[in-house]
Amino acid sequence: MTIAKNICLSLLIGSFCWMSACRQTTEYQDYTSQKVAKSDEGMVVAAHPLAAKVGVDMLAQGGNAIDAVVAVQFALAVVYPRAGNLGGGGFMLYDEQDGETVALDFREKAPLAATKDMYLDTEGNPVDGLSTRGALAVGVPGSVDGLLAALEKYGALKDRALVLKGAIDLARKGFAISATEAERLNKYAEDFKEQNAYLFPFVKNSAWKVGDVIVQKKLAQTLQAISDKGRAGFYEGTVAGALLNTMQMNSGIITQADLNNYESKWKAPIQYKYKGYEVNGMPLPSSGGIVMMQMLKMLAPFNLDSLGFQTAESIHLLSEVERSAYEVRAKYMGDPDHYPVPIREMLSDTFIDSMRQSLDLKRARVSITENTKQANTPESFETTHTSIIDQAGNSVSLTTTLNANYGSKLYVKGAGFFLNNEMDDFSVKPGVANLYGLVGAEANAIAAEKRMLSSMSPTIIKKDDQAYMVLGAPGGSTIITAVMQVFLNMSEYDMSLEESVNSCRTHHQWLPDHIFVEKGCLSIGIRNALKAKGHQLKDKNYMAKIKAIHRGKDGSLTGVGDKRNPDDHAQGL
Ligand code: DON
Repeated sequence: MTIAKNICLSLLIGSFCWMSACRQTTEYQDYTSQKVAKSDEGMVVAAHPLAAKVGVDMLAQGGNAIDAVVAVQFALAVVYPRAGNLGGGGFMLYDEQDGETVALDFREKAPLAATKDMYLDTEGNPVDGLSTRGALAVGVPGSVDGLLAALEKYGALKDRALVLKGAIDLARKGFAISATEAERLNKYAEDFKEQNAYLFPFVKNSAWKVGDVIVQKKLAQTLQAISDKGRAGFYEGTVAGALLNTMQMNSGIITQADLNNYESKWKAPIQYKYKGYEVNGMPLPSSGGIVMMQMLKMLAPFNLDSLGFQTAESIHLLSEVERSAYEVRAKYMGDPDHYPVPIREMLSDTFIDSMRQSLDLKRARVSITENTKQANTPESFETTHTSIIDQAGNSVSLTTTLNANYGSKLYVKGAGFFLNNEMDDFSVKPGVANLYGLVGAEANAIAAEKRMLSSMSPTIIKKDDQAYMVLGAPGGSTIITAVMQVFLNMSEYDMSLEESVNSCRTHHQWLPDHIFVEKGCLSIGIRNALKAKGHQLKDKNYMAKIKAIHRGKDGSLTGVGDKRNPDDHAQGL
């Protein structure tokens, strides 16, 4: 991709040109994206070339995987505004070479004033858009607390200013937007105007195009405050004041007490063996770790290779396994700090054996739909995932999101960032689907200070005590099945990492009761064979976009960004 140095000149005289958002100098960095990289030293795969470069620079300056991932995430908040964020939350897995493997939960929380029925009308029906747009949709942001907690505990450099410098420079000097970003900004232009009664750097009166440069002065100041004051630079003082002001102006319910109370949590990963591999996944409130464990353990006794890659038989098996695990997700999973989730049972071999026994190897079962409407399937949203392995062999897998593109579309004017719409990941009413068509139950009902259930699945797979694969993805409900399929492509079907990532994917999530198939994938013959088994098939433009690293037997690293996201970028040290 070539970025034209096209500097919204026409806008410089336009009344909608927002102060410093458009500029004439060419101080910003040009870039192109690279999908595959090789290195014997270190590797960064991220959702944007400029952010990946910031991570590689960090490694080159002696930083470890944590220094690099934190630098990448702050940079993504600048150059990847549709999902990179300060106003969202996420999950991280970190594996220290010869040390521990830990999980960090920096998922957003429901505000203290949140209530179970807050999105329902007087008749008990969900009010359209209330959990997805504007101030009420916003969960208490966790990203800044989480990134700083990771940096403090495991960063090698102990130099917050250096780690944030790359992001601050990009915000101050500006960056040229990619074609995909231009397309998204144009798509949501009306929503931005609808949700915000003021101009900000992502609003202008003509269409965005590739190469337009965006400078984010307010965001640079916010990042500087975080650099100078740490957590207090975001959750207190001017930035917090701007966020709370945005809340008040838009009838939101987040208060200073919510910001003070926010705390990310260190947790033990979901860890198990699959055919000689040690899989590390994210624990609740991400469903990713448990759902993938149940699916892989159900699959373990089968010889997938002999069933063939994406034959009607293997897709049937995969889909039925996925159906079972997503049913458990919908019925029983939620934030265990607020609901007695039967975690031990869900992880037990006895329970998973019973799930396997209930599979029908010949026919599609029917997802029971009592109290449940078949939901629409989602449009394509963005989340952002970063995978890194450093020179010492430490690896990190981190996924973060605003939920939908640009989250709630609400922008904190005084501090320069978008706020999430993560509250929609709660079950707003039993049986009512969220943006991803997922339904939930009491375990994922809204309660004050509770974290909403997630599908984000940062994953680290080890072999012989070393990271073998580091991967994760955006893609809502399709993340978990995509991560599993990419792992199976390598481990069962002997594909290269590049083939594994770029191969067609299928997905079943119990409800709606379809096999989702990426457009243009599967022959008519296979589609008909699946229909003959009782499956309904539904095409989807694309599923989760994986960012992965593989360590070969000789120790060399291959990084792969997904062809599904033009901005994905792999870069070696
Ligand atoms: O936590 C979740 O599962 C969702 N909020 C993730 C959103 C997402 O991946 C959007 N992107 N494609």
